[in-house]
Amino acid sequence: METLLKRICLVLALCCLFTVDGSSQATKKDHSKTAYPKTPPRPSDCESFEKIDVHLTLQNQLQPEYFEYNVTLHDVPKHQLIRHLELAAEKDKHFKFSATYFAGLGYFIDSINGLFGKWNPDKTYWEILNSHLEQTELGVGSYVPTHGELVTFNFTRSTK
Ligand SMILES: *[C@@H]1O[C@H](CO)[C@@H](O)[C@H](O)[C@H]1NC(C)=O
Ligand SMILES: *[C@@H]1O[C@H](CO)[C@@H](O)[C@H](O)[C@H]1NC(C)=O
Repeated sequence: METLLKRICLVLALCCLFTVDGSSQATKKDHSKTAYPKTPPRPSDCESFEKIDVHLTLQNQLQPEYFEYNVTLHDVPKHQLIRHLELAAEKDKHFKFSATYFAGLGYFIDSINGLFGKWNPDKTYWEILNSHLEQTELGVGSYVPTHGELVTFNFTRSTK
């Protein structure tokens, strides 16, 4: 039993090491050849060790003062987008945001660089677009960007 535990720990440690190294692809291949102990490490155990690049574009083309601003994050943990917004604000003092947490629903972006969405009466809000410029179904508290993803925060008006 003790040896089995040791093996699991070793595999886990290796997995996390390789993920940090950015060579998770290679490790995955190796794993398929390896005879696993009965309980292989779950990928989620290593998830937070994975490092990614995320590009953030913040744009308001809707009303003056128009602006567009970019922040690029390198080698940050793969995590929910809200964490990347925090890191962007730490890194770049020209980037600011505020958000409200609604129980059961998650975070909602109130403002970016001082521009607030006004649902009443303007129906304006900050929409989140993925690399394909499609609106993400998940909010900032749940959406996890992929490596190299360009996430756009677009100030827009709801037509509904
Ligand atoms: C921001 O990034 C986008 C996408 O890469 C690019 O098209 C745009 O020119 C950039 N804008 C600024 C102000 O750097
Ligand atoms: C961003 O919002 C503006 C204003 O509502 C809109 O015209 C534009 O199409 C949006 N951009 C994208 C890529 O959806």
